[in-house]
Amino acid sequence: MSLQLNYVQSYAAMVRAYLAAFPEDEAVARSVGGNLELFGVLEHSLLRQYGLREDSRVVDVGCGAGRLAAQLRRYPPLRYLGLDVVPELLDYCRRKMARPDFRLELSQGNRIPLADGEADLVTFFSVFTHLLHEESYVYLQECARVLAPGGRVIFSFFEFAVEAQWSVFEGNVDWVRKRSYLGHINVFMHADDLRLWARRLGFTVIAMERGDKASIAITAETATEAVPAGQRALGQSYCVLEKPRA
Ligand SMILES: C[S@@+](CC[C@H](N)C(=O)[O-])C[C@H]1O[C@@H](n2cnc3c(N)ncnc32)[C@H](O)[C@@H]1O
Repeated sequence: MSLQLNYVQSYAAMVRAYLAAFPEDEAVARSVGGNLELFGVLEHSLLRQYGLREDSRVVDVGCGAGRLAAQLRRYPPLRYLGLDVVPELLDYCRRKMARPDFRLELSQGNRIPLADGEADLVTFFSVFTHLLHEESYVYLQECARVLAPGGRVIFSFFEFAVEAQWSVFEGNVDWVRKRSYLGHINVFMHADDLRLWARRLGFTVIAMERGDKASIAITAETATEAVPAGQRALGQSYCVLEKPRA
């Protein structure tokens, strides 16, 4: 018998457990970390800050319950591909977004189902936080392939340098001490290592921001009634990489 902790539950199993215990809206909100509107507005604002246009071709990997898609559906010419590993979340998005032209597909093998150069922006919000480094790296290799020259990838990550993110790590430590069951894995990255990754992958680092810095401008365009304009922090740190133009 294995003496190892059973510390990794697949994301799909976690979502299914929430769906069995709570009404659907609450279950999917819990599955992606809650605060659907606030994080959707923050993610949308960040994309605007780093080049989102009304007609951008956006890939949202780990789209979850559609926090970002709900904000992007206001742009008629925008092309959206949302990928996730949980069919129930994709189905929820499909029903809630009311944008039949938005593609929502099951992610398989850490691949992005687009031809070379077909995307302008690829996002991973709170996704690399739940993957092995090697899986995140494969996704970034895919970004290098599917992005058009000048296209960008934006992803969030946990890092030890940010005091507030220690509570997540301490939660993991607690699970290990109690040898108790963990919902899903939480992975930390280091900004300097990500700069190395960027160099090996042929990307230019456009931004690397700490999650506790109020670096996101919520503007009159991206604000909602519940989330007013102003400078806000994302909570998780984030990195913006660009595929060279020539
Ligand atoms: C914390 S949620 C964030 C959802 C969304 N990005 C957001 O900001 O609302 C993480 C999402 O990543 C998805 N996910 C987990 N592993 C994945 C993988 N290998 N590829 C794509 N998505 C994955 C989960 O199913 C979940 O929907």
